[in-house]
Amino acid sequence: MDVTEAINARRSIRSFNTKSIEFEKIALILENAGKAPSSGDIKDYRFILITDYEVIKEIAKACTEQYWIETAPVLIVVCADLERAESFYGLTGKNLYAIQNAAAATQNALLTATEQGIGSCWVGSFDSEKISMLLKIPPHVAIQSIIVLGYYDEEPGLRSSDIEHYVYFKTFGNKFANLNLVTREYSKEVEKYLKNQKRGFDYFSNKLKNYIDNLRKNKSK
Ligand SMILES: Cc1cc2nc3c(=O)[nH]c(=O)nc-3n(C[C@H](O)[C@H](O)[C@H](O)COP(=O)(O)O)c2cc1C
Repeated sequence: MDVTEAINARRSIRSFNTKSIEFEKIALILENAGKAPSSGDIKDYRFILITDYEVIKEIAKACTEQYWIETAPVLIVVCADLERAESFYGLTGKNLYAIQNAAAATQNALLTATEQGIGSCWVGSFDSEKISMLLKIPPHVAIQSIIVLGYYDEEPGLRSSDIEHYVYFKTFGNKFANLNLVTREYSKEVEKYLKNQKRGFDYFSNKLKNYIDNLRKNKSK
């Protein structure tokens, strides 16, 4: 499965079967999460691996009572070491880069899970205080996301993506002047170009013909 295939296949899965996840696969997910880009390569993300059912139950409750999480065999709590981010980049590090670094790591994890045939869901609705207490997370570390993992039975559908709705050209709000080039329909563009060229050629050759005809007419007068 290449990256585009993984991106297309990834869907949020919220119901898991009882099959447990092989450790090598969890290790690969964590490894790839840790290869995500981070500002200045500070790698301020931290991952807490949770496999204990009782703890998973507590977390599901603290995730605004999203009890479907209880069906998952594995959770990864993605945290950011805010102190580390701030020590490198001040408030921008703490308030922006820490979040972005953790988000990039989360997405790497989701795509790796998909590639491994494992269902996943990015959970962002949670009570930080409760989970921090439960997992003994220190005050300078903030939970950024919870990755829910497990095998599943029901195949999720594919998602379509309509770039015309969210991509602008040159300035905000400016829709694409030429979507063919963006969607790589180069052949359509070449066709259009050749048609225009031919139109231009026909125009000038007609003009030239008229000019010569007029010259001839004037000469014969
Ligand atoms: C920042 C963030 C927070 C999210 N929080 C939750 C959540 O708390 N519970 C949940 O079920 N899904 C959550 N999701 C998953 C989205 O609902 C899901 O990605 C979206 O509906 C698109 O569906 P898809 O992932 O199947 O493409 C979250 C996604 C993101 C990026």
